[in-house]
Amino acid sequence: MNILLLGSGGREHALAWKITQSKHCSLLFIAPGNAGTLQYGKNININVNDFETIKKISIENNIEMIVVGPEEPLVKGIYDFFINDEETKHIKLIAPSANGAQLEGSKAFSKKFMQRNNIPTAAYAEFTKENFEEGKSYIKQHSLPVVLKADGLAAGKGVVIATTTEDALIAFEEMLIHQQFGEASSKVVIEEFLDGIELSVFVITNGKDYKIIGHAKDYKRIGVGDTGLNTGGMGCVSPLPFLTDAFMQKIETKIIQPTIQGLQKENIIYNGFIFFGLIKVGAEPFVIEYNCRMGDPETEVVIPRLNIDLTELFLSIYNNTLNDIVIEFDERACATIVAVSKGYPGVYEKGKVIEFDNSTIRQFDSSIIFHAGTKTNEHNDVVTNGGRVLAVTSFGRNIANAVQLSKEVLSSIHFEGMYFRNDIGYEFKSQN
Ligand code: AMP
Ligand code: GLY
Repeated sequence: MNILLLGSGGREHALAWKITQSKHCSLLFIAPGNAGTLQYGKNININVNDFETIKKISIENNIEMIVVGPEEPLVKGIYDFFINDEETKHIKLIAPSANGAQLEGSKAFSKKFMQRNNIPTAAYAEFTKENFEEGKSYIKQHSLPVVLKADGLAAGKGVVIATTTEDALIAFEEMLIHQQFGEASSKVVIEEFLDGIELSVFVITNGKDYKIIGHAKDYKRIGVGDTGLNTGGMGCVSPLPFLTDAFMQKIETKIIQPTIQGLQKENIIYNGFIFFGLIKVGAEPFVIEYNCRMGDPETEVVIPRLNIDLTELFLSIYNNTLNDIVIEFDERACATIVAVSKGYPGVYEKGKVIEFDNSTIRQFDSSIIFHAGTKTNEHNDVVTNGGRVLAVTSFGRNIANAVQLSKEVLSSIHFEGMYFRNDIGYEFKSQN
């Protein structure tokens, strides 16, 4: 079967690496891909939101399955586009419908969905320009800190945690009246602050059956000790020592099962991943957000830990055999560290040559270098092409050991201005 994978990050490199290990994959095409995905198939330089061109390429290359990495094409309805076209409706999309993608595409939609389905989440209210004054009163009587969220996709920047009422009122006005995030902040969700440890759990579903494929903790801030600006993610670890079987059971019965039942009850078509962004408050799990895709860099630890045929798992969604698949995990600790360009998550330069000391790197046989923002230039050098450049994943005896191995690999890689956090997994240093 020929497969098309959409996206260009570390997530897509990890997916390409795994998909091509399958007997079910003949040829892989990656659009647009990066310098790393080149070794698994053909990169095609097209935009992931250009559905007409994706259709043309799919027909030309006899594509039978499309795996969608990023959220934007999902929220824009790529699933519906393909299923409603006679020429492409046979293609198996690993994707939710546009309706299902609203779980990520609209905070207000996902909050209402959780409320209808009794899924634990922070108490909230939603406001638009029309009830702006009411929103201000709501903020004034709200406990602190208070969380404000732009309703739509805002590239991970649409959340403000205000510690004073004044800051909250300013942020509220910025979002609703000054349209700080454009259309995405024409509606704002105001919610209670939950204090606890964050983790993410990943599920694949056909909207009826599901399998848990892993979990991870992401380090979102740019600076050591979780300081500074938010990024797309600077590193991840998995499995988490505090995620006991009993706690996982709670997540499954209180969150995952009601979510899948909710999709079914509400006739929401969903043939893809659900990323549950959770927070553990005391001994209880709450949903902070849903994403309708895999995380990045979470994928770079979740996928390597899977001792299964990923393409077969994808096929099982459409063959109605998801329940027959047994998910086996590599029980070793896994960590990934993201190397970023100087200036990220602010302004950064591209085009820096990346040097790999391959004779040293080859000795690290439990490490994998996933490319993110990279491309090859006209001299065939690998150069930086984004903020997050590489994600180095390693397996180890424990989290500290896995992190150490990734740091050693990173010391054999160089590009001008390269930066990575050297404290990924710091909370788990003393744990086995
Ligand atoms: P989101 O875009 O909804 O994932 O929010 C981004 C980040 O804001 C999350 O990863 C949390 O760290 C934080 N956050 C969001 N909602 C809450 C909440 N209700 N309580 C505490 N922190 C939150
Ligand atoms: N690493 C967070 C995300 O993919 O949304």
